[in-house]
Amino acid sequence: MTSEDTTAPGLIPAPREVSWMPPERGLYPLDEETVLSAAPGAEGVARWLRTTVGAATGLPLTEGAGDHGITLSLDGALAPEAYRVVVDGHAIRIQGGGAAGLFWGAQTFRQLLGPDAFRRAPITPGRTWEVPMVVIEDEPRFSWRGLMLDVSRHFLPKDDVLRYLDLLAAHKLNVFHLHLTDDQGWRVEIKRHPRLTEVGAWRTRTKYGHRASELWDETPHGGYYTQDDIREIVAYAAERHIRVVPEIDIPGHSQAAISAYPELGNTDVTDTTTLSVWDTWGINPNVLAPTDNTLRFFEGVFEELLDLFPATTSPFIHVGGDECLKDQWKESPTAQARIAELGLKDEEELQSWFIRHFDTWLTRRGRRLIGWDEILEGGLPEGAAVSSWRGYAGGIAAAEAGHDVVMCPEQQVYLDHRQDGGADEPMPIGYIRTLEDVYRFEPVPPGLSEEAARHVLGTQGNVWTEVMQNRSRVDYQVFPRLAALAEVAWTPLPAPADRDFAGFEARMTDHYARLDALGVDYRRPGGPLPWQQRPGVLGRPIEGAPPVV
Ligand code: ACM
Repeated sequence: MTSEDTTAPGLIPAPREVSWMPPERGLYPLDEETVLSAAPGAEGVARWLRTTVGAATGLPLTEGAGDHGITLSLDGALAPEAYRVVVDGHAIRIQGGGAAGLFWGAQTFRQLLGPDAFRRAPITPGRTWEVPMVVIEDEPRFSWRGLMLDVSRHFLPKDDVLRYLDLLAAHKLNVFHLHLTDDQGWRVEIKRHPRLTEVGAWRTRTKYGHRASELWDETPHGGYYTQDDIREIVAYAAERHIRVVPEIDIPGHSQAAISAYPELGNTDVTDTTTLSVWDTWGINPNVLAPTDNTLRFFEGVFEELLDLFPATTSPFIHVGGDECLKDQWKESPTAQARIAELGLKDEEELQSWFIRHFDTWLTRRGRRLIGWDEILEGGLPEGAAVSSWRGYAGGIAAAEAGHDVVMCPEQQVYLDHRQDGGADEPMPIGYIRTLEDVYRFEPVPPGLSEEAARHVLGTQGNVWTEVMQNRSRVDYQVFPRLAALAEVAWTPLPAPADRDFAGFEARMTDHYARLDALGVDYRRPGGPLPWQQRPGVLGRPIEGAPPVV
């Protein structure tokens, strides 16, 4: 930031350049007379402003022309996600390189209005609304700024997903990775395979806490998104300039699918007809059989998926590929016959063959495959991208080999991991990753060549929901750390050790008020409130922090 003013609102993520006008210049008022003019290409952002800021302020923001009030326009000289906000004595001008940049500018404008602009209705009728005079020039560091939400382990109803899209947008995050399938539940309606949701979306009971916990929640759990729900989620995301990356996790993490269609499993080594949707956590040996039937089945799944998630907003399709245990393939005559028939070396190469099949299939249909870094094992097809989760190593190898990479190492940005060492953290699992740790996370590891660094598309936080039973638990794990990650992804920050965490914390004071207005159940700086704790429910904290690289 180019100037500091302690009375100015703390903007998060921090814009590249901010020039606050001297306080004596006064504030720009908004009232019943304030008009909103949208140039061609700005109509969607105008609609968003009227429905959000209009609702929060109660102001009509009537359509109007001229150089006063709020003006929205595109400036082709700016990059598509770049924006400029100028508040002076005449007007509030928001310009974007594209509609996306304009939208991010509108988000900054909402932050300038103060925390009550994040409410759904005015709390003080007749109050005045004012914006400080300022010039902001801004654009993101990374094109991939995301959050992965696991809706399989615990289902998050559609409304909660839409709310998360709003929360991503408020932090200028533009990728929503939706982990739709796993051993514990299949969450998307597939018309040609109805049992995926009739059977695969439901389980009779659920482990409460870490898998070593003795507690069970005996309430049946489940749910899924209908195809129309998905269309709504995709459209809602698109209006917020968020790309959705749907994930169908294959060939491991597939017990829910196998319990619905037992022929998908390794029937020659286990009686898959006895399987049900998994009710506990961990890595599961019941993986897909590498048969033609399985390939055709999942081609059918992906065909419906491509229809639901159009190429314009979902260029990437995630196929999982993580933690596929090879025990059944080692035992299975069918799998071994396939290895022999294809002339493969071992089961790792069989997994690679499986992933390559869908890479070819997706590429022919104009999409790009992305998978967890295990897909590097046995060779990665050209054009495929990697979500680097087991540390930086997979991402470094992939980027050096010319593949695009999203850096999301579990040691840094797994938001299910506990955020403090205190005994009162709810169901604490994993490493301690504080707000400061996330703020000092660097997506481009040192030593990466310049060429390879260009393949780091960006970063995302990953939220696995084994110990998150509902939206409130998700909120607690995700916030405030997502605000720090948003700044890491958006703002070109100094090297980790040189980052101004105290300055970030100071701006967070304003941001907590925004999260309060939005109704986010974030972790307070002092720790969990009594109702955010889960006394007696076992977690699995891991001691010690692994090195950053
Ligand atoms: C993962 O955490 N298994 C990608």
